[in-house]
Amino acid sequence: MSLPQSHPPVGHIHGKGKVCPVAGEIHGFCPPQPGDSRAPCPALNAMANHGYISRDGKKLTAQAIVRGLKACYGLSSPLAYFLAYVGFLFIGKFGRSLDLYEIGVHRRFGVEHDASLVHHDTRKGHKYAPIEIDSKLVETLIRDVHPSRKEIDASSDPEEKFLLNYEDVARARVRREAECRPIDAVHAEIARGEMAIILGVWETKSNNKTGIPVDHFRRWISEERLPDGWKPDHVQGLRDVRARSTNIRNAVKLLRQQALISAAGDAKSRASSYSHSSGSAGGEA
Ligand code: HEM
Repeated sequence: MSLPQSHPPVGHIHGKGKVCPVAGEIHGFCPPQPGDSRAPCPALNAMANHGYISRDGKKLTAQAIVRGLKACYGLSSPLAYFLAYVGFLFIGKFGRSLDLYEIGVHRRFGVEHDASLVHHDTRKGHKYAPIEIDSKLVETLIRDVHPSRKEIDASSDPEEKFLLNYEDVARARVRREAECRPIDAVHAEIARGEMAIILGVWETKSNNKTGIPVDHFRRWISEERLPDGWKPDHVQGLRDVRARSTNIRNAVKLLRQQALISAAGDAKSRASSYSHSSGSAGGEA
């Protein structure tokens, strides 16, 4: 049986190279094909989907990832070396090569952690984190973006123009740790760092908010695809990422303090309305 000419291609082989026989141009997008390996990391998967590392996601060295991070996202050498080599060390693959799925190894000193933004926790008895993206988690994550009043007024197509900033990320982190469970300090730092990098790579300013375009972010986190025609416009450095990560941490702290204060306020008003009603009930008796 032959397929009509207009039929989209059904599964092809990517192999070790960076060129895809279907995507055409060198960094054109092509999703993983049967047999390709992928990680629970949108950044690395997008690099494979656009041919910045082997499209099959297999037998990758830390050096190949360094090259990919610099070319794809414009990371500085110190930041790219830090992420790739420290990452391989944590994963237990220092000096060796790996397939992308191995990056999701779930262990105490691994990079992978619970309470991810769009992935479920690693299931009991499983060695690797799931790579499936839960579309409901994506939608909830996008709802964590609270646009300013001015942004809403200025936009006819909200999602196109809204920006996601470190406060929105903090809201999502607090929510996910409440939904799953709190994660330890090292993994909390990793989780903040993951988002701090992309906040730096795509940062842009509107009249009243600084952040990254929600449409870029949604496509990247859910389809593991880069914005059409986008190329890095600056070198993203390690020090800047640390500052952004600190902003997220402070915003998380503030949200938790506010939640405590409002819970204490609720408890106080419940107690006072209880004593009121039991007092008046007593008066009537
Ligand atoms: C441009 C550089 C990078 C960025 C922007 C980035 C960003 C992200 C983001 C946002 C997530 C969270 C996905 C979620 O919460 O559902 C993630 C997950 C992950 N990334 Fe990356 N990443 C980068 C590079 C790397 C590198 C170099 C490694 C390892 C060598 C790595 C390993 C991981 C792992 C293991 C996870 C899973 C963590 C989890 O359990 O949620 N990433 N990354």
